[in-house]
Amino acid sequence: MPDFVHKTVMAAEVLNALKPRPGGRYVDGTLGGAGHAAAILAASSPTGWLFGCDRDGIAVEAAKPRLGEKFAGRFEVRQGNFADMAGWIPAGGCDGVVLDLGVSSPQLDLAERGFSFQHEGPLDMRMDTRQSLTAADLVNGAGAEELAKIFWEFGGERESRRLARAIVEDRKRRRFETTRQLAELIERLSPRRGKKAHPATKIFQALRIAVNDEMGSLKRGLEAAVQVLKPGGRLAVITFHSLEDRVVKEFGREEARAYTFSGEVDVPELRRPRPPALKWVTRKAIRPGAEELDDNPRSRSAQLRVLGKI
Ligand SMILES: C[S@@+](CC[C@H](N)C(=O)[O-])C[C@H]1O[C@@H](n2cnc3c(N)ncnc32)[C@H](O)[C@@H]1O
Repeated sequence: MPDFVHKTVMAAEVLNALKPRPGGRYVDGTLGGAGHAAAILAASSPTGWLFGCDRDGIAVEAAKPRLGEKFAGRFEVRQGNFADMAGWIPAGGCDGVVLDLGVSSPQLDLAERGFSFQHEGPLDMRMDTRQSLTAADLVNGAGAEELAKIFWEFGGERESRRLARAIVEDRKRRRFETTRQLAELIERLSPRRGKKAHPATKIFQALRIAVNDEMGSLKRGLEAAVQVLKPGGRLAVITFHSLEDRVVKEFGREEARAYTFSGEVDVPELRRPRPPALKWVTRKAIRPGAEELDDNPRSRSAQLRVLGKI
């Protein structure tokens, strides 16, 4: 197996947000290459504790020896969705939670995972390979309307309908089995014409989000994080695109309000007072510093938001 290497994004900023200390209990819901996890354990030495999970079994297996070397006896890690963390992490017991969303470099680099249009691989894209739904199932099975909706909502693809119809037409002749097969169809339909990004970028992002129900997991994960935090505990979330960031912003705004309201629209007469559950630790999203931006191109789109439990 190739080395499991992922360059951790905004580690210093996450430490500054969570302020790990000896005896503290922390959660890393997106272990990946375990960079944040190791930084939190180091900063909370000698007695800080870490609960960690990742949907990706390979990431979890790689994290165990990596963390075990220096921090044996101070962590529990499992394969699973962070949306389910409240099922195994004690409620109200944690001082900090970090979620570093999206995919890791090893996921993108391993052709057989099917996340990247740059490598020839099966159309898979499952973060958790125990799940049955794959990208191939969607591409070969979803109707044109459903595909167009995925491409538009999760990829912001302006040609969503045209591309969806073309996929449905093309698959009558043969099933889509590989990443290149799909990427080549999109290249033919939407040539690059000097644009920087590959024409399949948005389609691949959209399929990945749909296959892994990333938006649903994020909403449930934010709620679960609030459950496991103790009052005064902090939640740090790193997002990589505007859809994710919007979910975090809206969640924070809602939980920081001192009232709820019924219906879709916030009308002052329909407000019911209640104590807010969270407060913003920083009003604006935190961006990586110039040095990190230079050193790690992946950090370019990263934004960190930090909330505190009241
Ligand atoms: C950007 S990487 C995390 C990198 C990690 N922070 C580090 O320092 O190496 C994102 C990881 O989150 C995982 N992931 C994404 N959504 C998840 C979810 N809902 N539950 C658990 N893990 C998830 C992915 O499998 C991937 O390994």
